[in-house]
Amino acid sequence: MNSLSLITLCCVVVVFGGLPFSSNAQLDPLFYSKTCPQLQSIVQKVLGDVSRTDTRMPASIIRLHFHDCFVQGCDASVLLNKTTTIDSEQDAGPNINSLRGLNVINDIKTAVEKACPNIVSCADILTLAAGISSVLTGGPGWLVPLGRRDSLTANKALANQNLPGPSNALTELKSAFAAQGLNTVDLVALSGAHTIGRARCLFITDRLYNFDNTGKPDPSLDKTYLKDLQKQCPQNGPGTNRVNFDPTTPDKLDKNFYNNLQVKKGLLQSDQELFSTPGADTISIVNSFANDQNVFFQNFVNSMIKMGNIGVLTGKKGEIRKQCNFVNKKSSKLDLAIELLEGEDMVSSI
Ligand code: HEM
Repeated sequence: MNSLSLITLCCVVVVFGGLPFSSNAQLDPLFYSKTCPQLQSIVQKVLGDVSRTDTRMPASIIRLHFHDCFVQGCDASVLLNKTTTIDSEQDAGPNINSLRGLNVINDIKTAVEKACPNIVSCADILTLAAGISSVLTGGPGWLVPLGRRDSLTANKALANQNLPGPSNALTELKSAFAAQGLNTVDLVALSGAHTIGRARCLFITDRLYNFDNTGKPDPSLDKTYLKDLQKQCPQNGPGTNRVNFDPTTPDKLDKNFYNNLQVKKGLLQSDQELFSTPGADTISIVNSFANDQNVFFQNFVNSMIKMGNIGVLTGKKGEIRKQCNFVNKKSSKLDLAIELLEGEDMVSSI
């Protein structure tokens, strides 16, 4: 990987948005430059090694970061396993049997802890890994603002509520993003992550066989593509087969996602909505990204940084977890104490 490419985009002029670092002054790409100068190279090494044999992993990491940020901010809440005090987000509808990469984040954390113990948050590791995943798949690189801290809680209900669904209409997608402070350009730019990775057939079965209960396929699906997808996802199949988001370059972060939408080859209904919703303001944005990969990349960088800034914990908030799947002992003891106190209250009020 070319490490230079990681910094080349820090100073680009962003076409639709503001400048990359303007939205959150608290985070800083140099946050660990003195306390953990090896951080970037450790993340690159572990993720690079895994991705050589598991070419899908960068996609899974980018998605993991998105699913973290949309639920109480980018605070590594998605990494917390179920315990007596944690209702794990991993069990929420959009995540269950679907999230990948948790162990890779753990492997990175182990390596980072060896080099610089108790310094680097899991939220920063995940955000940095998402940025490096872009570069590993041929996408743009950027200086990732750092300094997030890890949450003491997770929120499964909020994961069910905040994460958009594959059958969402454009208005629903827009409001899911607006709820996170992200605009229409962010929606279109970040959806471009669907140029890498896979989706299970169960998310498109209705499009292939019975769209909107019509007994017919989704008319906004190209006929040849439809046949191809029907082959990969048989009507009464288990729904667990996986389909590439981008049929031509499935592991390359490029502008193909937008060119596919232009020819009715968006995999999810929610993807195709961006281009096929009559009169939508997203159509011209799709066209501009489809016409020029640099424009897409510049906006992807801008929106990834914006997403990475959502609801971050900084300063003395949260903690630096020792193990990404669990809150630290002290805080879990505190949780337990609170639980016991609440329990006492309940008992005494009966
Ligand atoms: C706009 C609303 C979105 C919807 C409705 C949506 C929905 C989905 C669904 C249903 C899958 C397949 C999951 C599975 O088969 O288990 C998926 C995969 C994926 N999503 Fe999204 N997504 C959205 C936005 C995003 C954003 C903003 C990003 C990142 C910036 C993203 C990155 C990915 C990636 C990379 C994959 C493939 C993961 C893998 O192969 O492991 N998605 N998405």
